[in-house]
Amino acid sequence: MISFKHLVMATAVAASISSPSASALEAGDVIIRTGTTTVDPRESGSSATLNGSVLSLAGGTTELGVNSDTQLGLTATYMLSSHWGVELLAATPFEHVASGLGELEGLDIAETKQLPPTLSAIYYFNPQSQFKTYVGAGLNYTVFFSEDITSEADAALSGLGLTGADVNIDDSWGVSFQAGLDVQIDKQWSFNTSVRWIDIDTEANIKFDDGSRIVAGIDIDPLVYTVSVGYQF
Ligand code: NI
Repeated sequence: MISFKHLVMATAVAASISSPSASALEAGDVIIRTGTTTVDPRESGSSATLNGSVLSLAGGTTELGVNSDTQLGLTATYMLSSHWGVELLAATPFEHVASGLGELEGLDIAETKQLPPTLSAIYYFNPQSQFKTYVGAGLNYTVFFSEDITSEADAALSGLGLTGADVNIDDSWGVSFQAGLDVQIDKQWSFNTSVRWIDIDTEANIKFDDGSRIVAGIDIDPLVYTVSVGYQF
């Protein structure tokens, strides 16, 4: 038999499931998310130079392009209020190949790894909702490491008399802008997707045995896509 008390209890349970306040963000909340993060360069390069002059093998020019990579991403968000938070983006190292564009189109020139830690201020528009949208702006530091010239580029450059290639890619500071969505599954768990643009401008330097130097500026300026699962503490 269904009593009034049971009805009240059932209503209270239903309300707690559907109530938006069951998943509202508050100051002091911490959200940890893990998932996939893809760095998709939207690069534009400047013409490579050899010893300060535009590198031109047959009257044309060469720029460097960078391919995309997907890694395990991790973000941690700390809420300062129900609307404002700070977020740190971390990931396992991304691996990219820098390839030639123009005269050296299709030649893989160098491989590099990079880490792009990014600290952002986040603003949630609707922290009470099951569907929480937010925007963020922050600062990125991208560190490039384990740079290596490819064997095919080494062979091609040696053929031009440029032996002993040693490549270095400069680290980059830049701004980051993002938009994201949390879909609350229950009080603790959520799905998240976000896209961010990061201003990553760098320079590749290739030094040779005879002191010659090739320099190529690259504005990598990637779109960074993240799909993840979040847990709120
Ligand atoms: Ni840029």
